[in-house]
Amino acid sequence: MAPRSMIAGAFLGALALTAPVTAQVVEQVSSDSQAGVPLFTSETLQLTADALATLSQNQSTLFQFGNSSTLSARTVGGCKVFPGDFWWPSSLVWTLFDKVLGGALIKTVPLAASCYSSWPEYDADTCATITDDWTNSNLHAADSASVMWPLFEGRTCLPTTNASAACTVGGYSSYAVNVTNVAQIQLAVNFARNAGLRLVVKNTGHDFSGKSTGAGALGIWTHHLKEIDYIANYKTSSYQGPAVKMGAGVQAFEIYEKANELGFSVVGGEGKTVGVAGGYVLGGGHSPLSSIYGLAADQVLAMEVVLANGRFVTVTEESDPDLFWAIRGGGGGTFGIVTSVISRVHPKVGVTVSTFSFSTGADVSADTFWAGVRAYMERFPAHADAGTYAYFWILNTGTDSFVFLMNPFFAVNHTLAEYNALVQPWYDELSDLGISITPNSNYYDNFYDGWSAGFPLETVAASVMLTGSRLFPRENFVNETLFNTTFDTLRSTISDGYAILAFNLKAELVDGYPDNAANPAFRNTLMHAITSTSWDSDATNAEILDTMDYFTNTILGKWRATCPDSGAYMSESDIQEPNFQQAFYGSNYARLYKLKQLYDPSSLFYAPTAVGSENWVVNSQDGLPDQNGRLCRA
Ligand SMILES: Cc1cc2nc3c(=O)[nH]c(=O)nc-3n(C[C@H](O)[C@H](O)[C@H](O)COP(=O)(O)OP(=O)(O)OC[C@H]3O[C@@H](n4cnc5c(N)ncnc54)[C@H](O)[C@@H]3O)c2cc1C
Ligand SMILES: *[C@@H]1O[C@H](CO)[C@@H](O)[C@H](O)[C@H]1NC(C)=O
Ligand SMILES: *[C@@H]1O[C@H](CO)[C@@H](O)[C@H](O)[C@H]1NC(C)=O
Ligand SMILES: *[C@@H]1O[C@H](CO)[C@@H](O)[C@H](O)[C@H]1NC(C)=O
Ligand SMILES: *[C@@H]1O[C@H](CO)[C@@H](O)[C@H](O)[C@H]1NC(C)=O
Ligand SMILES: *[C@@H]1O[C@H](CO)[C@@H](O)[C@H](O)[C@H]1NC(C)=O
Ligand SMILES: *[C@@H]1O[C@H](CO)[C@@H](O)[C@H](O)[C@H]1NC(C)=O
Ligand SMILES: *[C@@H]1O[C@H](CO)[C@@H](O)[C@H](O)[C@H]1NC(C)=O
Repeated sequence: MAPRSMIAGAFLGALALTAPVTAQVVEQVSSDSQAGVPLFTSETLQLTADALATLSQNQSTLFQFGNSSTLSARTVGGCKVFPGDFWWPSSLVWTLFDKVLGGALIKTVPLAASCYSSWPEYDADTCATITDDWTNSNLHAADSASVMWPLFEGRTCLPTTNASAACTVGGYSSYAVNVTNVAQIQLAVNFARNAGLRLVVKNTGHDFSGKSTGAGALGIWTHHLKEIDYIANYKTSSYQGPAVKMGAGVQAFEIYEKANELGFSVVGGEGKTVGVAGGYVLGGGHSPLSSIYGLAADQVLAMEVVLANGRFVTVTEESDPDLFWAIRGGGGGTFGIVTSVISRVHPKVGVTVSTFSFSTGADVSADTFWAGVRAYMERFPAHADAGTYAYFWILNTGTDSFVFLMNPFFAVNHTLAEYNALVQPWYDELSDLGISITPNSNYYDNFYDGWSAGFPLETVAASVMLTGSRLFPRENFVNETLFNTTFDTLRSTISDGYAILAFNLKAELVDGYPDNAANPAFRNTLMHAITSTSWDSDATNAEILDTMDYFTNTILGKWRATCPDSGAYMSESDIQEPNFQQAFYGSNYARLYKLKQLYDPSSLFYAPTAVGSENWVVNSQDGLPDQNGRLCRA
């Protein structure tokens, strides 16, 4: 070890002893914001020069603002500092950090540690509860480090009945800051940057590619930033009307409850527990209202953000047009940590929600079944253009056996009669084919009741599957040659045993809304289709990797071939997507990459498949594309 490192290491170990810190390092500032809406209380508690001055000089070095590390180049072989490294902060430094945070630091204990006798948390009752709840998204959202796709953490501590098996922290962050104010985010950003640590932002942990987890990382957990303000008349240069300001931790069900109470509609996801003001909106965000209002990112009018240099800034179209463009759709965990967004809201709207299914059987051959599906897909343009959104599944249930589930058809701004008129041509065709359906269709005079009835809590945390997806453009449904190819491809995917979960929607940028970095492929899509592969729970890592590669290249390769210029939705995708820059960002990539270098010159923020992530690599322990390994320069 170089002498310089020795000195710095000793320095890091000793400083906590030199001057005890007794209180959180924070200052209450004015609530004025350039966004024109007062800061939340959590946002008025900031890290300022005055607050830093309450620390000794040695201590404050750790938390200084800047674009690079205050402690020289603290990387080892181009890697972020990892537990066990010489440069890894000593326990005294972690204690100091916890003190300046006001006691908000959580040392990660894997959620399922209670199932393992090697952990002090070992407890059969707790283990049983965790095991029962494992597929419930609320369990993982309420944990500072857990994520909903354990594959990407490295599957190092799954619930088990074998108490003598091994459980490690694996790809979970090592520590997480349970954030309740902006000062804590700034302290964590500055500390991670200055100490050369990997940083991850975890909100709910829904991300399909493990973007909210990372071995040896310091986590910033935004879940408790729950404030919501309704603004009756918000004004920007391009908008005047009602808006809502949401803290980064607000989840879909929470904003929908609020919207219902106050009588407006908001563009949020179908998933109940998804973080609407976090990764969801930052990655684009499709919604049951998208066919009318576009993506969630399109609704954003202003944001409050902590940048990689630790500074808290208001980002509007006027204050910083570049960042305003990039953050809205350019992906979470990339340009900064958003503490709140102000989004446009819409009038209360009624909706007809319909569920039904059909399947092969005695009177319905496979060809007939597929003719029924084809009759549906032919109507994707008409249905989406009518402003509706439909979530449907097509499952393979055996040789030449299939099930179609409408789960549900969500006909916004349609009475029951209007909905029935819209779908009648398809229903008639099904009837002509001898396919009988018994739709359960109900009208609700508001979004919340329709959404609650239509979208049950989804199950999460399967550890034996990989997903992939594609945004199929309009031309694939209106050009007959291309439509035939598309339809045949989907039929063959499902016949090969892969299920699809898909959305018929459109997500055009509404006239007059400022442009943003959302995937251009969204703008002319009519179907976002997701499929997945799986393997036996006792498969070896080599077998899993083979299964993944076949899925990514061969199965999804056929989808790509039907629309090579389109792309895929980053937030519900395949972590192995080839040429992810084109697929997830399209023609926006070059500009996004440039802005990434400008706003995050030290690459503080990293997430797999995020802008700039090609410059980094995780050397995972099991060889799978997960976050259980050291993060190093590629
Ligand atoms: C069951 C389920 C249902 C879903 N339904 C929908 C849907 O209807 N529509 C849709 O579009 N998508 C949907 N998704 C996908 C969802 O949008 C993504 O998983 C998204 O990443 C979730 O964001 P999050 O903040 O909740 O999750 P997290 O996994 O916590 O975060 C996701 C990413 O965003 C970053 N991030 C989070 N908060 C911030 C912040 N404040 N500032 C900066 N970066 C941040 C994280 O670092 C990470 O990179 C669904 C996913 C699941 C599992
Ligand atoms: C600051 O660190 C230096 C170098 O380790 C040390 O010599 C000095 O005593 C420290 N000062 C304080 C006030 O802790
Ligand atoms: C570094 O950050 C400061 C703000 O702290 C900013 O003004 C400056 O432009 C940044 N410099 C670079 C090279 O990014
Ligand atoms: C339990 O785990 C231990 C350690 O990995 C292993 O040796 C043992 O075979 C496992 N027992 C069962 C029943 O799977
Ligand atoms: C995180 O902080 C919130 C708000 O202060 C608190 O209610 C919650 O118990 C904390 N969670 C943990 C795990 O410390
Ligand atoms: C709802 O539909 C009516 C026509 O039935 C139309 O005039 C109105 O603009 C639609 N509202 C929205 C929000 O699209
Ligand atoms: C598309 O497929 C249908 C049904 O198989 C067929 O009738 C039609 O001729 C095909 N059209 C083209 C252009 O290939
Ligand atoms: C329809 O798609 C086919 C196949 O991609 C293409 O050759 C043809 O030019 C398209 N037709 C029109 C009218 O765009």
